Amino acid sequence: MTSTEPRPRTDRPSASATGASARRGPLREGQRVQIKDAKGRMNTITLARGGQFHSYQGVLRHDDLIGGPEGVVVQNSSGHEYQVLRPLLNDFVLSMPRGATVVYPKDAGQIVQLADIYPGATVVEAGVGSGALSISLLRAVGDSGRLHSYERRPEFAEIAQANVTTFFGAEHPAWQVHLKDAQQMDQDHEPGSVDRVVLDMLAPWECLDAVATVLAPGGVWLNYIATATQMSRVAEAIREDGRFTPVEASETMVRGWHLDGLAVRPDHRMVAHTGFLMTCRRLATGQEAMLLKKRSKVSEFSAEDTEAWLPSDETRWTPQALGERTVTDKKARKSAREAASMAERSVRAASETAPQGPTTAGQ
Ligand SMILES: C[S@@+](CC[C@H](N)C(=O)[O-])C[C@H]1O[C@@H](n2cnc3c(N)ncnc32)[C@H](O)[C@@H]1O
Repeated sequence: MTSTEPRPRTDRPSASATGASARRGPLREGQRVQIKDAKGRMNTITLARGGQFHSYQGVLRHDDLIGGPEGVVVQNSSGHEYQVLRPLLNDFVLSMPRGATVVYPKDAGQIVQLADIYPGATVVEAGVGSGALSISLLRAVGDSGRLHSYERRPEFAEIAQANVTTFFGAEHPAWQVHLKDAQQMDQDHEPGSVDRVVLDMLAPWECLDAVATVLAPGGVWLNYIATATQMSRVAEAIREDGRFTPVEASETMVRGWHLDGLAVRPDHRMVAHTGFLMTCRRLATGQEAMLLKKRSKVSEFSAEDTEAWLPSDETRWTPQALGERTVTDKKARKSAREAASMAERSVRAASETAPQGPTTAGQ
């Protein structure tokens, strides 16, 4: 029988989840806050005792914010107003130090949903890049899950580790970074022991065997892929392999809207293409993939057609040929230093104050 009675409200703190306490309660030294002026200009600052935010409009003292609630509107030395809020995950990801290109929030949300990432799941991710997707995956698996993230560039792993620590205010207990090629993931996991695999890398087809080995029957394999040629290449490899269900692919476009009185319309500009999402599921061992009838059309393509579209010569699948931005070691090391210093301040801020319960209205 279902009850229509509302459940009694409890104000019990649920701040034990990693990072939860840093997201509520009074603003603390070392935390990052967004300050937005009356013209909508936004700056993200790290609060420091005695610190000041200078603009041509005057000076805003950090001490006026530390210890107070977020969501306030404060005035600077010359009476200009600023709205003060902690950055949300979406804001943090777009402003954190980067090495590699990050998975955008619109895609991260879809990835968590389409890959069916759940609390307690064991998930393998590669490459870790700047750690943007890792944060969303860690939130979804929670403290009781496991996220194993593979990365082959040490500077990128450093940036990601620092970004994740900054976001959660501590090292996340469910996270392990493996500094190695994702093709070797089967060295670290028992066959069939991983619930979900999420790949965001140049050549996911190279990991096919390893993914098929570690993924549990029914487990989801999701690829986030930048170009149609890469997507086609991995789709054909999965189909030929036969250990997975047929792939499904989609892309996500989010169009913002302008809302101002009677001027209510879509924004003029949007982020159109970021990447494609492709999923399939591991079949039970020994199970043959069902042949879908419509697949017979594939025979209309000759081997030459396929070769032209999807060259088998691996040396042609370079980051340059796929239009990827190359990040120099120097630039990556600079981002790593910046990310490390932010992480240090975030950990200090989180450890200075005991976990806070939910704030009361108006606090
Ligand atoms: C686009 S970035 C990933 C961005 C990341 N998902 C994020 O949201 O910040 C791709 C990463 O994959 C790494 N990578 C590419 N091939 C790899 C492989 N075979 N094994 C491990 N890492 C790999 C690259 O070094 C790069 O850091």
